[in-house]
Amino acid sequence: MRTLLPVAAALGAAGIGYATVVERNWFALRRFEIPVLPPGSEPLRVLHISDAHLTPRRERLMSWIRSLDDLDPHLVVNTGDSIAHVEAVKYFLDSLGPLLDRPGVFVYGSNDLHAPVPRNPLLYLQREGSRKRSSKSVDLPWEKLRDGMLEAGWLDLNNQRGQLTAGGLTIALAGVHDSHIKRDRYAEVKGPADAAADLRLGVMHSPEPRLLDQFASDGYDLLLAGHTHGGQLRVPGYGALTTNCGIDRARVSGLSMHPEISPAGGHTAWLYVSAGLGTSPWAPVRFACRPEASLLTLVPRWA
Ligand SMILES: [Fe+2]
Repeated sequence: MRTLLPVAAALGAAGIGYATVVERNWFALRRFEIPVLPPGSEPLRVLHISDAHLTPRRERLMSWIRSLDDLDPHLVVNTGDSIAHVEAVKYFLDSLGPLLDRPGVFVYGSNDLHAPVPRNPLLYLQREGSRKRSSKSVDLPWEKLRDGMLEAGWLDLNNQRGQLTAGGLTIALAGVHDSHIKRDRYAEVKGPADAAADLRLGVMHSPEPRLLDQFASDGYDLLLAGHTHGGQLRVPGYGALTTNCGIDRARVSGLSMHPEISPAGGHTAWLYVSAGLGTSPWAPVRFACRPEASLLTLVPRWA
């Protein structure tokens, strides 16, 4: 036992070091092809970013986000939790850099509104516990964040609909504010998605099933969300311990359909949940769940 304890302690320290220093900065670009466009359309490249939780010192993350412009996306979708510090707005906008010159849309996550504080990590395993705002949390300058993206011409989709042209295609959009803190107001965007558009895109921070149901039944083709961090700490062979919202563990990140079983006469949408770029500064670890951005190449529907 005396020899095993130091070995276990050394392994534990190595694991924490790996999760904090190595994997948290080991950014992955995920690529998926999704058949949602009308027949004959040219491919549309959508860059999906989420959950950067940016603080001023994360230079590696900032330069990696900036490098994503090399992918030449037609559209950028930011599903929120972009900042985690009162001074992070300018760093986040600098990180986006040339991406701001492209068509873009955004929604907020709760962490865009309030700075994170140290918390009992076990609260993350309890949905209601993780929703509660700490009295020590300070407000973040989400208006400044919004203004920076609006000035670049990006669309604010927090409980709003919109339309834009990207890659020569007309895209009808709707989005909601963060359901995790009950700011979503689907009633303000509900109704059939524009059937005349080339693509109908639903955008939200947290992939709450009741919202996914509504977007899908209103005819949205592709739904994009973040929030889950892919579980952030995954157990090899088991996966995420929690999704921190209502979606099932199997769909904590990646591409799936919603509903998973096509309803009779109903519409089924593609769903992509990003595992996100960052972590709360108070939980700076990722294990078996690399930080990511996603390049979703939209192509014509299968015949
Ligand atoms: Fe997040």
